[in-house]
Formats: sequence, C-alpha cells, structure tokens
Amino acid sequence: MIVTTAQLFKHAYGKYAVGAYNINNAEQAMGLFQGCIDSKAPFIIQISKGARKYTDKRMLEAIIRAASEIFPEAIFAVHLDHGDEQTCYDCIDSGFFSSVMIDASHDPFEENVAITKRVVDRAHAKGISVEAELGMLGGVEEDIKVEEGNACLTDPDEAKDFVQQTGCDSLACAIGTSHGAFKFKGKQSLHFDVLEKIKARLPGFPLVMHGSSSVPKEEVDRINAAGGTIKDSMGVDPKEYLPAAKLGVTKVNIDTDGRLVWTRVHREFFKEKSGDFDFRPPGKIFMAEYAKFIASRNELLGSAGQLEDLRASLGK
Ligand code: G3H
Ligand code: 13P
Ligand code: ZN
Repeated sequence: MIVTTAQLFKHAYGKYAVGAYNINNAEQAMGLFQGCIDSKAPFIIQISKGARKYTDKRMLEAIIRAASEIFPEAIFAVHLDHGDEQTCYDCIDSGFFSSVMIDASHDPFEENVAITKRVVDRAHAKGISVEAELGMLGGVEEDIKVEEGNACLTDPDEAKDFVQQTGCDSLACAIGTSHGAFKFKGKQSLHFDVLEKIKARLPGFPLVMHGSSSVPKEEVDRINAAGGTIKDSMGVDPKEYLPAAKLGVTKVNIDTDGRLVWTRVHREFFKEKSGDFDFRPPGKIFMAEYAKFIASRNELLGSAGQLEDLRASLGK
C-alpha cells in the first residue's frame, strides 16, 4: 500500500528512521519488498533521475505497482531522489509519487530558497510533500561531482531560516556523509554536534541523511577477492543510524550498499561459473541476498517490527 511520506514520518519521528532505498530494476524491487516484509518494516522507495532514464520512467512505476500487488502487506512511500525543478514537476503531475526532493543545494542560498519554494507551492497543491537540501555533501551524485574540499556542512541557523522561507516538509542536511563508497578518510563519524544544533532549531521537523551506506568491509573484501579493485572505501558506521534517528533523522538514504551486494553476487557467481551466461541464476541469488541486506539495515534503523503499529495508527 502506497502511503504519503508525511504519514511515515509522523509515525517514525524521534523513534526510528525510515530506510529510503533506490531502485532501478525488478530484481532490486523484489529484494527490497521481500526484505521489508521479512523485517516487518515500512520503507521509502527512491527513484533518481538516472533510474527513470535507465529503461523508461513508466517501467519503474509498473514494477512498483506489481510489487505492491505481490506483497500486499507492504506499506511504503514513493519518492523522487535528487530532482531538478522540471523533474519534480513531472513527478508531481504523474500522480504516482508520495514526495519529491528538489536538490538546489549547489545553488546560492537565495536561489535555493526561490527554486524550493516554487516546487513546494506546486507539490502542496497536490498533497505531495517536498524534501529540500541545504549544505553540500561530497562525492558523486548523478552528473554532479563535489570535491571533498567544496563539501560543506549545513549551518543550523541557515537551516531554520531556509525551512521557514520555503515551507519544505523535510530537510536533507550535510552532517559529514558523502555519496558513494569513499565517505571518510581516517575517522568514521557523523557530526552529531551539528545535528544536535539543527534539531534544537527545528524541533519536530524531519531531517534526512543522504550518503548513508555503510560500505561493509566484508562485502568489499569479497568483491575484491572475486576480481574487483575497490580500494580505500569507508561508509557510515551503521550503529550511528539509531542515535541520529533520535535526533530527528527520519529518513536514511541507502543506495551504494545495494550496488555492492549486486556486484559481489555477480562477481562471485561468474568467477565460479565462468562458462555460464544465463542472468537468472545470479539474479535469483541477488534478490535473496538483497532481501537479507535490507532486513539487516531495517534492524539497525529501528524500522524493523514497526509495520503493524503503523498499520493500526493508519486505521488500515
Ligand atoms: O544520490 C544518488 C543516488 O545514489 C542515486 O544514484 O543517480 O546514479 O541513480 P543515481
Ligand atoms: P549512498 O549511495 O552513499 O548510500 O547514498 C544514497 C543517497 O543519498 C541517495 O540519495
Ligand atoms: Zn543522495
């Protein structure tokens, strides 16, 4: 059942974080739904601009509708990840999305406010909520690469000002993470000091953490043992998800970790069976492994086991 992102946030705020997982194809969708049902967790499906272009934007919508029928107990929201203004309008008008993210964080503050406000006005007119971003994460996202030196943490005073001026419904804050598999060099920790200050200025307001993959060392070691060359990777310590959730982080975005599961499964499979060329056997393994991974993340986020309480609170 597709619900609004606002309904998920209302149930989760201050208690746990909702996992927001990117999907690009049917195998990811199947693993995601299975993992969330196994762990009895609500979740958010995220679709990036790149994911919409990968096959056709209608394909992902059809996959999600089908998955919702295959797993009728699932409760989830559908969200546009890192949208530009036009893509936000397209998703708002599609009638399929629960929420959109307008990412104008690379623009100056005033420009970010103006763009975000326009999207908020269009989205709210249709009952859709809007995630905006302030501050800049390092790493690569879609076609934008931010060098570490240019990444900047969210300013708590600006955050309050930004939310008041734009009327956005949630805010992606830069608190030390970055997109991709190379998030930290040396010390691996979120900036809880900044997060505390943002929460103090925006009590009760849902915050979003991007770049939240944990980049498990065992996963990377297995990939490299099967022919990969991923070096010096480091992710978020997943034991920090729940403390962050208690400080208002209500949505935790995880994409890279899913790609690592896919890469490990396929590298190991074809290393072992180098004469095979049928994609279904490794695809089956991937779906099962991805489901296990998702369930493990939901445990760490605190969203595992929340499904029935959420259902009761929604009166469904
Ligand atoms: O933050 C970006 C997400 O990981 C989506 O990645 O744009 O390559 O689909 P993508
Ligand atoms: P990771 O790929 O680093 O997990 O980040 C995902 C993300 O922020 C999607 O918006
Ligand atoms: Zn992101």
